[in-house]
Amino acid sequence: MSAPRAFRAFVKRAGRGENTRAMPNKDVVIVILAAGKGTRLKSSLAKVLHPAGGRSLVESVVRACLPLSPKKILAIVGHQAEQVTAEVASLDVESVVQQPQNGTGHAMLVARRAIGHAKIVVVLPGDAPLIRTETLKALVATHRNGNAAATILSAVVADPSGYGRILRKSETSVAAIVEDSQLTPEQRELNEINSSIYCFSVDKLWPALAQVKPENKHREIYLTDAIAILASKGEPVLAQIAPDPREVLGCNTRADLAEVDAIFRERKRNELMASGVTIQLPETVLIGPDVTSGEDTVIEPCVQLLGKTKLGANCIVRTGSILHDAVLGDAVTVEPHTMISESHLDGGNTVGPFARIRPGSHLKKGARVGNFVETKKAVIGEGSKVPHLSYIGDARLGSHTNIGAGTITCNYDGVHKHPTTIGNRVFIGSDSVLVAPVKIGDGAYVAAGSAITENVPPNALALGRSRQAVKPGWAARKRREMAASDQGNKSLKKRSGRKKSRPRRKR
Ligand code: UD1
Ligand code: MG
Repeated sequence: MSAPRAFRAFVKRAGRGENTRAMPNKDVVIVILAAGKGTRLKSSLAKVLHPAGGRSLVESVVRACLPLSPKKILAIVGHQAEQVTAEVASLDVESVVQQPQNGTGHAMLVARRAIGHAKIVVVLPGDAPLIRTETLKALVATHRNGNAAATILSAVVADPSGYGRILRKSETSVAAIVEDSQLTPEQRELNEINSSIYCFSVDKLWPALAQVKPENKHREIYLTDAIAILASKGEPVLAQIAPDPREVLGCNTRADLAEVDAIFRERKRNELMASGVTIQLPETVLIGPDVTSGEDTVIEPCVQLLGKTKLGANCIVRTGSILHDAVLGDAVTVEPHTMISESHLDGGNTVGPFARIRPGSHLKKGARVGNFVETKKAVIGEGSKVPHLSYIGDARLGSHTNIGAGTITCNYDGVHKHPTTIGNRVFIGSDSVLVAPVKIGDGAYVAAGSAITENVPPNALALGRSRQAVKPGWAARKRREMAASDQGNKSLKKRSGRKKSRPRRKR
């Protein structure tokens, strides 16, 4: 079959809702429950917007779902609906408002119209972000293969308290989910929990939900109660145990958030280590989900790599450094306690220790920035050096230029920012101030301690300081004068001291 014909046939099959290998889930709608407040977090921010592992909880859930390529993904929003909608909209997720929030079953009823004619609905809570795509795919496969009315993702855990428990009818089928608050003492011993992730056959779900009554202490319609109703009708209800119980951890408290964050961070470090990165004392290193690195790069303890940071191969990021949206070429050394944000380092660079590379900085090949140097919107040309104690802002440096210790570009006049342009092979003497706007031509010299307020032509020497005066013998005279006056003071003290001590003699 020619490629276009194959593609047309594929589209036709997908359109009829048939399974296709590349688009297997076009009969699936995914619903993410994200309307709750998260009272137990004691926060003004909606629970699903809290971060863990560098992303909001709800974003992580959506990202786990996207590779399933479902017909659509819906988010049920309620508490801080606008913010939650904005958070997921860029990921092509449609929001449905649930107001008020009368329970997880009620949330599904609110979404009924948006779910439409799908065959299967996959439900996930917005507060369990560690779920993996592979686990969701396996759950859908079990549901399809078992012709089930509902398939629950369960987990066997050491401490099941707080979770709904799975009540099994037999080894393969489920009788009910019992919420923690409604458990009998015997049921409390069960350690297979409901993850709140399920597949439902849509045509079975609605009649079951219609029968659910808000008979619990919160007077809510629980989605979990639909399970017992389906099971009592003899419908097949399955439970698949998650391969790693940590995948279904829900974030109800701050302690849960910390635990989930730690697991995300560990996953990310393991991913980088598997791709050839050395991480020393890995548990002290914080790496964002979008960070990438080349092989043989070394990350020392207590480093943070955040945002869209990209490290090349053979780099070393030394202890205490924080990189945010930093792009590093190969063989870059970041010395200890250096901050780099929104900047590019082309490769072969050394920065720090204690350097601050602020947004818009660009270090070309081999450029060096040393200790206590701050750069901002600055291009440091190939092989150029700013080794110590400088501020270089709104500046462009050519190649192989040397900036002496303590040089400052005065880029701000109190109202506007102005540029400094420095050519190739320039030498700026230590402790100079370059008052922008100003240009220093190729090959020019600026004498140490200069205040440069006018352009310097190429190959010129600029001196911008007062001439030195030398007074021969001045210091020796001064010392003699001081010694003489010290002697005078001492004898004066002696005399006045004798007088004062007399009345205190022993009688
Ligand atoms: C729920 C399950 C419980 C399971 C646990 C797993 C129910 C009744 N219980 O309990 O069996 O073990 O998850 O973590 O479902 N939500 C809405 N609308 C609402 C209520 C909740 O969208 O009206 C959302 C919440 O924002 C949250 C999710 O549903 O993302 C789960 O709600 P939550 O209150 O966390 O339920 P749990 O008590 O954890
Ligand atoms: Mg929960």
